[in-house]
Amino acid sequence: MNDMSLTRRGLVAGLAAGVVGAGMAGAGVSPAHAQGGGSALSGGQIDAAVNAAYAKYRGLAEGKNADYIPALAQVPSQYFGIALVGSDGKLHEAGDTQQLFSIQSISKVFTAALVMQESGDQKIEDSVGVDATGAVFNSIVAVEQYRGKEMNPFVNPGAIATVGNVKGASPDEVWGKILKIHSDFAGRQLEVNQPVYKSESDTNQRNRAISALMSAYERFPMDPAVAVDLYTRQCSINVSARDLAVMGATLAFGGRNPVTKKQVIDTKHVPGLLALMSTAGMYDDSGKWLFHTGLPTKSGVGGGLVSVCPGKFGIGTFAPPLDAAGNSVRGQRAITDIVQALGANPYAQFG
Ligand code: DON
Repeated sequence: MNDMSLTRRGLVAGLAAGVVGAGMAGAGVSPAHAQGGGSALSGGQIDAAVNAAYAKYRGLAEGKNADYIPALAQVPSQYFGIALVGSDGKLHEAGDTQQLFSIQSISKVFTAALVMQESGDQKIEDSVGVDATGAVFNSIVAVEQYRGKEMNPFVNPGAIATVGNVKGASPDEVWGKILKIHSDFAGRQLEVNQPVYKSESDTNQRNRAISALMSAYERFPMDPAVAVDLYTRQCSINVSARDLAVMGATLAFGGRNPVTKKQVIDTKHVPGLLALMSTAGMYDDSGKWLFHTGLPTKSGVGGGLVSVCPGKFGIGTFAPPLDAAGNSVRGQRAITDIVQALGANPYAQFG
């Protein structure tokens, strides 16, 4: 099953179950139990919300792993981890928060951040677009309809074009920058999940076609075969729920990693990234998600979610089974409950 572009029904049909690499993430953060790390929320409140969501949804068996990338069907569906990082890098977590899995489309946020940092926000708007397409994430029809324009960095054509706009004299140099910005956001050196990379490389005819078509519309200066290979590699980067929480928290605190204290990108790029996450981060369900939580969030078909509560915290979740829109079932439920429990919807802050 490699065609996920036609209908939402096609997307559902492509989602089924499986195991990626195991191991320790070790984001360099330490559990916090007593304080909220400088936000108005207390650590006890946050721990209670995280633990309650974990206990409530731990046994929920709805959804199916993605299977159009064969290695994703091998990941045990029962994995479930929730991690939240506030200011000062305090970690609150429950479940399988150190289990590694492929970041998939969540990587699109961080490579877009790289291009914005290197070439300015306008470069993304001009070369990729900042509007939701209204089509599924690997639609070729959407590329044809807009002649490669008016898209966004979170659908596959826009994401491949984003990779193709990273500056570098060689593919190795571009890859080094992509891996570095992901690692800087996570606060530790990340690595590629080789079985997932191979599995997707062996089956990504569709993305190769998208890359060639975007190149034909002159959306990026790189060889399209190189762009799609780098894109596939970035989607295969291994992360944990802890890593995603730190990455989300780095966005929540204006591009400054609250664990390493490193300013990863200039603060001026963060509002645009959060706007893109809000409008296009959850595929066809982005509006519904924002309606219920108000949180800029990005989903990946590996089962990860990263959510950002600006100025307060980042959340990372991992639970492989996806819903019809391609978003982690338990991750969405958990984050929704946590946002409600903590009164963290940004649209509900009235001074
Ligand atoms: O290109 C793909 O289909 C996957 N590497 C990533 C898909 C994903 O997570 C959803 N995209 N928005």
